Amino acid sequence: MNNRTPVFTDDPGWHGKRLQDAFAARGLEAVFISLKDCGFDFSRAQHPGITIPGFDSLPRGVFVRGVPGGTVQQVIARLDILHALTMSGVAVYNDGRAIERTVDKAMTSFLLHRRGISTPATWVCESRHMVEKIRMQQGPLVMKPLFGSQGMGIRRLEPEEALPVPLEQHVEGVYYLQQYINSGEGAWHDYRVFIIRGKAVAAMKRHGTGWVNNVALGGRCEVYAVDSEIAALAVQAADAMDIDYCGVDIICEKRAGDADGNMYVLEVNSIPAWKGLQSVVGYDIAQLLVDDFLAKAS
Ligand SMILES: Nc1ncnc2c1ncn2[C@@H]1O[C@H](COP(=O)(O)OP(=O)(O)OP(=O)(O)O)[C@@H](O)[C@H]1O
Ligand SMILES: [Mg+2]
Repeated sequence: MNNRTPVFTDDPGWHGKRLQDAFAARGLEAVFISLKDCGFDFSRAQHPGITIPGFDSLPRGVFVRGVPGGTVQQVIARLDILHALTMSGVAVYNDGRAIERTVDKAMTSFLLHRRGISTPATWVCESRHMVEKIRMQQGPLVMKPLFGSQGMGIRRLEPEEALPVPLEQHVEGVYYLQQYINSGEGAWHDYRVFIIRGKAVAAMKRHGTGWVNNVALGGRCEVYAVDSEIAALAVQAADAMDIDYCGVDIICEKRAGDADGNMYVLEVNSIPAWKGLQSVVGYDIAQLLVDDFLAKAS
């Protein structure tokens, strides 16, 4: 393949550098490009119609490290580029459809539920009235933005607390409510499993400083077995999303004596960070990703 590969990102940072090194180890060059700078040009019959700066013809594959947020129209236009690339025979890693399915927590929950994969009881609705009804009938609930980001905007709804107003506090007119799973008061933890092409390649236990365990919020990482039941559940979740690679979050209900009880899939990340995970494993996760990408794009 052409030795230059677009890596779509607006903020290459640590992950961009790791990918660049992994491409270089295979004699290839990763070129950082923002999806904001791509577009369509249908003025010439011979032209593929998709414009990627610095590329006169379409590459064999593109690595998606970020889809920048924006207005609904901007986000749709950016996803259109990914869809059009896939339709033109370009290997898009992860492809636009998989990104859509997983960025949207409601669709992820639906796909998990449909497959019968263990996930906390979840409700999605626009009606405050419905939310009040659910609150009256259920135990403690967590409220999340539909398009979450590294633990931001996630909150526990306390029974006495007034329901946040739509369009405030990350609600944006849609309520995503989930049964709160107690992983151990004061000993909060969950698991992150990294899956590439249906195989668990790395896993860690995350110990939170509070009940939200994201590494971005100070969660402490500890290596975990990839041949565990938790990793096997993560493989099922990835399969339900039909995705090249992903990071799956799994939480376990605390049992007596602080042991882990029932497992629940919380979410599937299609553009997962792996800096925390890389700090606890001895092999290069970026290289595993790039090698899998190259196999798909060959
Ligand atoms: N139902 C729940 N019960 C208990 N804790 C939860 C629950 N849902 C989320 N959490 C805690 O909050 C953290 C973040 O939740 P989640 O992984 O669903 O979203 P996110 O990481 O913000 O989303 P994204 O990865 O899309 O940015 C989890 O890792 C877990 O520690
Ligand atoms: Mg998460």
